[in-house]
Amino acid sequence: MAETSSTLMAFFFLLSLAVITATLPSALIEELNKPPPPEFTALVSNNCALDPSLRYCNAVTTDLAGIYKSTVVARHLCAESSNPDCNFSFAKIDLRSRPRVVPLYLSFAFFWSYCPSSIRTIDLANNCLHGAFPSEVLRCAQIQSLDLSHNLLVGDVPLAGLASLANLSFLNLSYNRFSECNIEGVELFRRFDSSSFIHSGFLPGDHRHGSEITATILLLVGVLVSVLSVVGLIGRLLLRQRRDKFTTAMLRKATNGFSETNLVRKAEGEDVYIGRLRDGAEIEVHVQRGKAFRRTFGEECRILAQLRHKNVAKVIGWCEGRDMQAVVTEGVLVRSVEEWLVVAPPWKQRLKVMMGVMDGICYLDEHWPRVGYDLRTRSVLLREDIEPSIYKFKVPSPDSESEKVYRLGMFVLEVVANKRPREALEASETGFIDWVRLQCPAQIKKVVDQKMKLTAASLEQIKQVTAVALECTDVSAEGSLTMKHVLRMLRRACAPSSAQAVHGHHHHHHHHHHQQA
Ligand SMILES: *[C@@H]1O[C@H](CO)[C@@H](O)[C@H](O)[C@H]1NC(C)=O
Ligand SMILES: *[C@@H]1O[C@H](CO)[C@@H](O)[C@H](O)[C@H]1NC(C)=O
Ligand SMILES: *[C@@H]1O[C@H](CO)[C@@H](O)[C@H](O)[C@H]1NC(C)=O
Repeated sequence: MAETSSTLMAFFFLLSLAVITATLPSALIEELNKPPPPEFTALVSNNCALDPSLRYCNAVTTDLAGIYKSTVVARHLCAESSNPDCNFSFAKIDLRSRPRVVPLYLSFAFFWSYCPSSIRTIDLANNCLHGAFPSEVLRCAQIQSLDLSHNLLVGDVPLAGLASLANLSFLNLSYNRFSECNIEGVELFRRFDSSSFIHSGFLPGDHRHGSEITATILLLVGVLVSVLSVVGLIGRLLLRQRRDKFTTAMLRKATNGFSETNLVRKAEGEDVYIGRLRDGAEIEVHVQRGKAFRRTFGEECRILAQLRHKNVAKVIGWCEGRDMQAVVTEGVLVRSVEEWLVVAPPWKQRLKVMMGVMDGICYLDEHWPRVGYDLRTRSVLLREDIEPSIYKFKVPSPDSESEKVYRLGMFVLEVVANKRPREALEASETGFIDWVRLQCPAQIKKVVDQKMKLTAASLEQIKQVTAVALECTDVSAEGSLTMKHVLRMLRRACAPSSAQAVHGHHHHHHHHHHQQA
């Protein structure tokens, strides 16, 4: 007890050194670049005199900068994990569903080598973490609970390292892609049951205990099955979409045997069927046949099923059949933006679609940076109420930020111009962009979809939106624009009232492009 309290006190001294700033990664990086304050040496020796068991105490003379940085990270991480009082305790690293910040914190080797001894729990679940097992966390040898479930971790699990965590009583490695290994006979796995390793790559061998345990398990399973069937029945009545894995038979039934009348779209090796499940829920089934199947398909879908945003298609499940892979989404998407543009929608509606797509991008980039998306007008779908939905995803994202910015610019140009009739004329995408660049801003009317009615105000807005889109598609400036910046500029250009306010700014950019052309 005495040891614990002095540890916490020591931690407190370190924490109270610097002023707590915003927990933004940029603030953190800035702070990490500063040298330790002059009084830091004295503080560390003082702490070590109080509690020699602190991890940094045998390194004082050599690595003061590392120790200082570790305390900076500890403070930020403690706040980021919403620990109730970081001055006195840092009990839990809680970075569940925080894919944006987790890789950053994992990269701070100095933090992990001085892992605060107050930490009992580490939760990094649901973060799209890919690559090898994050062995850094094993440096926190005192932990009691470790959750790495729902990530994309591959390779071997450091069995010896995990086994050396003497106080570990909770472990969850479920839903990862670790190399297959038979856990039967491995000491470590006696401490945890198979629910710690669901779909993790391990082959659970559970025959190690006597028959009485088997009997107990059978009894429990029996009780569970009956409870589950009752719960399932109620659940099905209450929450109609609660399912995820579909069989080919279920989908065949829902789509009238994948009939021609249910086939609503065909694009790039993907057939899209509408259908209805037994309980009446409308679905869309996006079927890929004959393509090289991805072994990771199920894992990707499991991530996609967690996306929740009005402008991101709601994936309710998937199917891995012998001759097809299918993603099942909520059946509210009626057509692609490309198809919709053919009917020459008014500018107001086009604005709404662009704003919706930007909201969707914002959500994905903020919360799921490893999920890639496709912004071509034929891949973005619309609902009946003209709310767009980003649908085609890739995990992990194959595109860099500048490629995403370019695709957004291209999307905006297509929505403004209804590019399709000119495609034959301009032969290629770059040809099209160059052509638009030549017309802007003086000949902007030539660019705009001829069938769209224009007012002076909407034309002004189109000018500004197009100017931003041209910046996005300017490959000579590659990498100079961040998505955040672009979204801010576009939102400003799209806002109804600010047509005049931003005029000067974009005027400057027109000149810029003229000179380049
Ligand atoms: C905790 O730390 C913050 C920032 O250093 C400080 O403002 C606050 O008073 C501290 N709380 C206690 C109880 O010491
Ligand atoms: C495990 O817990 C015990 C009792 O709280 C403690 O004495 C011991 O130091 C812990 N082990 C590690 C490796 O931290
Ligand atoms: C581990 O996580 C999975 C998925 O969230 C869950 O189904 C399983 O029950 C968890 N295991 C334990 C031991 O909590």
